Parts: sequence; C-alpha cells; structure tokens
Amino acid sequence: MSDYQKYQKQYVSLMNKYPTIQDLKKRALRKIPKVSSEYLETGTDDETTLKNNIRDLSKIRFRPEFLKGELDVQLDTTLFGHTFSAPFGIAPVGLTGLMWPGIEKMLATAANDMGIPYCLSTVATETPENIGPLISPTVGWFQLYVPPDMPTTLDILKRARGAGFKQLVITVDIPQPSRRQRTRRAGLKMPPKINAQLIWDGITHPHWLKDTLINGLPRLRTVENYNTFKMNVEAFKTKQRGSNLSWEYAQKIKDAWDGPVLLKGIMTSEDALKAIDAGFDGIVVSNHGGRQFDGAPSSIYVLPEIASAVNGQIPIVFDGGIRTGLDIIRAIALGADFTLLGRAFIYSVSALQQLGPYHAYNILFEEMENNMRQLGIETVQQVKQLQAIIENDNSYT
Ligand SMILES: Cc1cc2nc3c(=O)[nH]c(=O)nc-3n(C[C@H](O)[C@H](O)[C@H](O)COP(=O)(O)O)c2cc1C
Repeated sequence: MSDYQKYQKQYVSLMNKYPTIQDLKKRALRKIPKVSSEYLETGTDDETTLKNNIRDLSKIRFRPEFLKGELDVQLDTTLFGHTFSAPFGIAPVGLTGLMWPGIEKMLATAANDMGIPYCLSTVATETPENIGPLISPTVGWFQLYVPPDMPTTLDILKRARGAGFKQLVITVDIPQPSRRQRTRRAGLKMPPKINAQLIWDGITHPHWLKDTLINGLPRLRTVENYNTFKMNVEAFKTKQRGSNLSWEYAQKIKDAWDGPVLLKGIMTSEDALKAIDAGFDGIVVSNHGGRQFDGAPSSIYVLPEIASAVNGQIPIVFDGGIRTGLDIIRAIALGADFTLLGRAFIYSVSALQQLGPYHAYNILFEEMENNMRQLGIETVQQVKQLQAIIENDNSYT
C-alpha cells in the first residue's frame, strides 16, 4: 500500500486529532530532540521578524459576501506553464534530516502525489540524484546556495538538472551567516557529533533515535564532496559566494540553467524590478523565515508594494509565517501568485512521518476551500481581487 493510500485510510482520525498545523507543531516538537527543534524554530537575534511574519498575516481581514448560491471552489493554479492542485508548495529547508531522518523522500513523494512543488535545498541531507526520480520535473524545484567558484556551481546545476529538477531558485538573502543564538545554545554541530547531549536527546526521543540509527546521522550529501564547499553549520554560508553574489554572477547562473529561474529573498520593489530587467522568471518575496536579518519587516508587509511595482510582469512567490489556508488567501490577496511553506511541512513530518505532508496538504487545502466559501468566492483569481482590511490601519477603520 502506498503512503498516500495509508493516509487516505487514516484521514478521518488524523483530521480529528490534528485539525491544524499548530496541532502538528505541538506533536512535532515533542517528538524531536532539542537540537532539532531549536534549529527548526530559531530566527535570528531577538526573533522579531520571525514573530512579525506570523503576527502581520493575522492582521489581514476580509468582508465576506453572501447569497452567492452554490459555490464550486477550485484551488488549481498555473505557474510556469504547469497547473498545480493548489497555490502552495514546500519551501527549501536545509539540514532537513535533523528534523526527521529520510524527510526529503517523504516530502518529495507526497508533493508529487498531491501535485504541488517541492523545493530541495542545496544543503538538504539528500542529493538531487536521489530525490529527482521521485518527482516530475514540474514538481521539482532546486534551491541553490551559490558556491564560491563557478566550476562547483556549474557541477551542482548539472547534477540537479540531470536529476530532473526543472525550476531553479537562487537564494540571495545571505550576504553573511546570521547569528542564530538558539542553535548555538543547543550545541548544534555539523556534522552532528555523538556526545553526551546528543545521546541523552536521542534516548529521550526514541522514535527519532531509531530512525536516525537506521538512516545514519544527517549529512549535507549534495555538497560534502566539493573541496571548495566543505561545510559545517557555522561556516557553510561564509564559504559560499553569498557574500559577493552580484547581479552579474546571478545572471551567469541563469544562463547556465535550462528552465525557469527565481530569485529568493527579494524584499524591495527595487530588487524586484532589477530581477525583471535581468530576465529572471520569478521572485520569492521572503525574509528567510526571520532567520537572517532581524531588522527586516515581515514579508507580508513588503508584498503589496512589490506586487504593485512588478505589476504582473513575472510571478511573485511568497513565503514567511504561513501556518493556515487563510494565511495563503491573505498572501494571494495582497499580491502573491503562489506561496511556499517552510516550517509547516517540516512539523508535519516530525509529527507523523510519511503521512505528515499529505495531512499538512489536506489541512491547508480544506482551510483554503472553506474560507473561500465563507468569502463567497470560487477561484484563486477571485482571491487576488479581494479587498483586504488591515487591522489598525487607519485608512480602513
Ligand atoms: C529550518 C529551516 C531551514 C531553512 N533552510 C533554507 C535553505 O536551505 N535554503 C533556503 O533558501 N531557505 C531556507 N529556509 C527558509 C525557507 O525556505 C523559507 O523561506 C521559510 O521557512 C519561510 O518561513 P516559514 O518557515 O514561516 O514558512 C529555511 C527555513 C527553516 C525554518
């Protein structure tokens, strides 16, 4: 029986027990060691941006319209010429196996079954060669942390494209590694070292430990064999070209890729317009889930301005703080064409392993569908036309 069939059999009981992403989060944080939960949950510095991503989304309201008769709600959304079953996908997350061993295969398989994108990180714990065969090229997005030299960059691109990934996402928002105090205090080392703390963490989380013993400790398998890209968690971002990534260099990467290329981490209309001028196919409005710069606004705060500047010329993908289907509606109403979720899908696997991503998908799908009915609308196109009310914004009160 496939994982999807297993999920279908358990759908009702899982939906009753874990009706929201928040329920999955609670279970996930109980099931994984502290070193994993701190890595997953951390922002940077005071974590203001991380909190504001969620808070600012919750301030967006809509006036429902009624007497619309029978509504036929459709969530399918076309992006880069392919129709996905819903306007959301799985964001790139690094060091993934620390949150659950074998997680990339579970996320990729479910994304493929559900018909939503899965973006594999350069610093995931699985390789494009092992994940590519599980997914169709339109579902497969590959995220690039730009290596320090062109030969390594070209080799990674060749491997990802050869493995079947069609969309490339270049992450641009890491000029320098950020300070993530929680992971420091939790003693995260890369590769994780077997020490007393990890042993204790493992013993107190036996399911995670059992699966880790079967799969081995997480390794950055895609990049571990490049001499120029030898990594550990503290250093891996300094050793890449992040610190001197330029428009010219990004352009060279784009030219080397056969397929749509998006820039991830765009937070201003100026950079969005430059991305259009440089011929990029899309942008991801994102502040890296609050993990890079704590002085940044929430990503939803900058979205309307960027959307108005971009004016439909290229698709805008949005991430940061999405925990519900209503949040996805909020992001689309404020200008996104598509959305990604990072932590939410990781919670789902840490909570329910291979059934998790199917469940997260269904929660988000049902929340979107239900809220669109409450609003009296049927299509994602109509979500785009909603008039938002921002709580405490004087222009609306
Ligand atoms: C644990 C963790 C690891 C991440 N690793 C990466 C990464 O390797 N590459 C990347 O571009 N973004 C990475 N991100 C950022 C996500 O792609 C995404 O922008 C962010 O999680 C969105 O916010 P959300 O978690 O509130 O959905 C990571 C985020 C988290 C939480």
